[in-house]
Amino acid sequence: MALIDPITPDEYIPENMSTTVPVGNARPKHILDPGFDLTLRPMRYPQFFDMYRDAIKNTWTVDEIDFSDDLVDLDRKLMPAEKHLVSRLVAFFATGDSIVANNLVLNLYQHINAPEARMYLSRQLYEEALHVQFYLTLLDNYIPDMKEREAAFAAVENIPSIKAKAEFCFKWMDEVHHLDAITTQEERRKFLMNLICFATCIEGLFFFAAFAYVYFLRSKGLLNGLADGTNWVFRDESCHMNFALEVVNTVRAEEPELFDDRLEADIREMLRDAVDCEYQFAADVLGEGVPGMSLPDTREYLQYVADTRLHLLGYASEFGSKNPFSFMELQDVQGLSNFFERTVSSYQTGIEGDVSFDEDF
Ligand SMILES: [Fe+2]
Ligand SMILES: [Fe+2]
Repeated sequence: MALIDPITPDEYIPENMSTTVPVGNARPKHILDPGFDLTLRPMRYPQFFDMYRDAIKNTWTVDEIDFSDDLVDLDRKLMPAEKHLVSRLVAFFATGDSIVANNLVLNLYQHINAPEARMYLSRQLYEEALHVQFYLTLLDNYIPDMKEREAAFAAVENIPSIKAKAEFCFKWMDEVHHLDAITTQEERRKFLMNLICFATCIEGLFFFAAFAYVYFLRSKGLLNGLADGTNWVFRDESCHMNFALEVVNTVRAEEPELFDDRLEADIREMLRDAVDCEYQFAADVLGEGVPGMSLPDTREYLQYVADTRLHLLGYASEFGSKNPFSFMELQDVQGLSNFFERTVSSYQTGIEGDVSFDEDF
């Protein structure tokens, strides 16, 4: 017997099947209402189920990434200032995705009360583990010296510009971590701030700033293995942000009163803090002077990215900055891989055509 493919989920329910919710298992009215709704039919938020299905199509593995050219580049082609850039970058990567994974489990999963959304979060958790594995493999390959490698993994404690970014994340995690249930408006505002922080400031800004360094190096023909892996991570992170923003839109539709002027002001302040934090990191990364990538341009880029995040939330620009980095304007993931004649996974992909940085993210 052929399986039913629930592509249009609610067509799956046979007409004679009761959709009455059993007594004692009242379904939540809003997605942020406390509890662990287990009922997938009728499906309340099919868009999250669709995102889960798309994420499965975007499967890749770390074993596909070939770092051998990178090791030659690190040994023979990179200038000292570029080596410093790479060492700071990988030190950030050493812990960044673990922090995101922790927030996902400790905060987001608990309070987003829809089983189809929790399916997506489960898939995202796997992807964050994959990113952690990718960066673990990257650091092990890039840093042969055990003492240096240990120092890179301890960067979150020892390198001030990386510690500051981690503290920014922990601050917003702590805001909600003690909450077992978010019942009051104030608690839901805190949850929204955490969700928006991780989507727009951490995945959407800290990580996108890191991607810019990778694609800058790629534009000079350097570190193609890192760029190949980053293409996949870039796509994953774009989807994570997309999911979080869809949760925000859902909450906005269900509880519009939460989206008042104070929330907008708080989000703007949080994004300004994130830009400052990332700018301090940029000053460290570019501290030895990297030809072709200036600190003022990097600030402009960070402000531009922050503005695009505000637009995604339905708000006006904060900075009015333009994107100064032409190498970030269009991320044609598959096309660029072909251009460099790298091994491209034959996995089916969830996103077809160009992934345009300007249009979507
Ligand atoms: Fe990640
Ligand atoms: Fe992510």
